Amino acid sequence: MTDRGLSIASHRGPYTVRFDDEPLQPLAAVTAPRHYLIDSRVADLYREPFERLAGGSSVLRIAANEHAKTLSSLTPYIEHLVAHGIRRDHLLVAIGGGVIQDITCFLASTMFRGMEWCFYPTTLLAQADSCIGSKSSINTGAVKNLVGTFYPPRQVVISAGVLETLDPADVRSGVGEMIKVHVIEGPQSFDTLAGCYERLFSDRGTMQHFIKRSLAIKQPYIEKDEFDRGPRNIFNYGHSFGHALESATDYAIPHGIGVTIGMDMANFVSWQLGQLQGDDFSRMHRVIRRNYAGFEDVPVPQQAFLTAISRDKKNADANLTLILPGADCRVAPQQVQNDARFAELCRRYFEEIQRA
Ligand SMILES: NC(=O)c1ccc[n+]([C@@H]2O[C@H](COP(=O)([O-])OP(=O)(O)OC[C@H]3O[C@@H](n4cnc5c(N)ncnc54)[C@H](O)[C@@H]3O)[C@@H](O)[C@H]2O)c1
Ligand SMILES: [Zn+2]
Repeated sequence: MTDRGLSIASHRGPYTVRFDDEPLQPLAAVTAPRHYLIDSRVADLYREPFERLAGGSSVLRIAANEHAKTLSSLTPYIEHLVAHGIRRDHLLVAIGGGVIQDITCFLASTMFRGMEWCFYPTTLLAQADSCIGSKSSINTGAVKNLVGTFYPPRQVVISAGVLETLDPADVRSGVGEMIKVHVIEGPQSFDTLAGCYERLFSDRGTMQHFIKRSLAIKQPYIEKDEFDRGPRNIFNYGHSFGHALESATDYAIPHGIGVTIGMDMANFVSWQLGQLQGDDFSRMHRVIRRNYAGFEDVPVPQQAFLTAISRDKKNADANLTLILPGADCRVAPQQVQNDARFAELCRRYFEEIQRA
C-alpha cells in the first residue's frame, strides 16, 4: 500500500483503490459510456460534485435500505438501465454505501453475463471494509444476503470528505467492521484500535489511518481466498449473530451495529463454552459495548432470532458454524450444537450481559 492507494489482485485481474480528499473526483482513464447508481441521499448532499462527475450520463437514484437490495427490487433497476440504452461495453458506477455496492456489483456480474463497474464508497463501512473483496449480497424474503456473486470493480475511489455527513449510527456501524478486522489481526491490534476509540470520531487523520489499516489487514485474505472457501471465513466473525439480529428486528439494527453485538455474543458463547477467558471477554466488551450503545433497547424477538441464525448460509448439517475466539483471542470457525443450551446462552446474553 502507498499513501495514495493500493492494488488488489483478483480473479478478474488487479483493481485499484485510490484515496482522495475531495468528494467524487474523476475516474482514471475511463472512456466507456457510464450509468450511475447513486444513493439518493448522497446525490442530494453532493449535488454539485456529482453533477460535475456525471455530466449527461444516465443516473439511477436509489434510497439505500435493506429492502432496496432484494431480488424483486432489481427488476425496475434493470428496466431503467435498458431504457437508457445500456450495452455490455458500458460502465456501471456505484456511489453510496454497502447497499448501492451490493446492487451494482450484482447487476454488473449478471447483466450481459458480466460488465465493468467502479465504486465510490461513501459510508465508513464501505470504505474500511466492503469496498474490497468482490462480494455482492442480495436479500430474498426474510433471508439476508442469500443470493450473491464474486465480482470486483475496476476502480475504487475513497474520499475522506464524504464521511462528515454520515449519521453517527452509520459511523459506529463502520467502526463495528473495523473492530472486527482488528480482532482478526490479533489482540494487540484490537487494543491499539480500542485505545484510539474516542479519537476515531473527532480526528479525521486517526480515522483515515484506521481505514487504511483495515483494508491492509483484509487484503492478503481476499487475495488468497477471494471465493471465501477457506481462510477468509474468519471475516464472518460477528456476522451469523449480526445477520440474525438484523433479520429478527426487520433491520432496525444497522449492519455494522449488528456485527458489533454479534462479536460480543460470539465472545460470550466462547467464554461460556470454556474457551475465551473471562478477562478477555470483559476487556473487549468494554469497547464493543460503547459501539452498540443505544441499540440494546431495540427489542429482539428470541424465536425469530434463533430461527434466523439456524438458516445462516455458513451452517453445515444441523450444527451452527460460528466464528468464535479461542483461549488466545484468535478467531476460527467452530461447529456449535444448535440446541437448548445455545438458546439459553443467547437468552442470558440479551437479559444479563448486553447491558452489563
Ligand atoms: N458486499 C459486501 O462485501 C458487504 C460487506 C459488508 C456489508 N455489506 C452490506 O452493506 C450494507 C450496509 O452498508 P452501509 O453500512 O454502507 O449502509 P447503507 O448503504 O445502507 O447506507 C447507510 C445510510 O447512510 C446513508 N449515506 C451513505 N453515504 C452517506 C454520506 N456520505 N453522507 C450521509 N449519508 C450517507 C445512506 O443513505 C443510508 O441512509 C448491508 O446491506 C450489508 O449487508 C456488504
Ligand atoms: Zn459485514
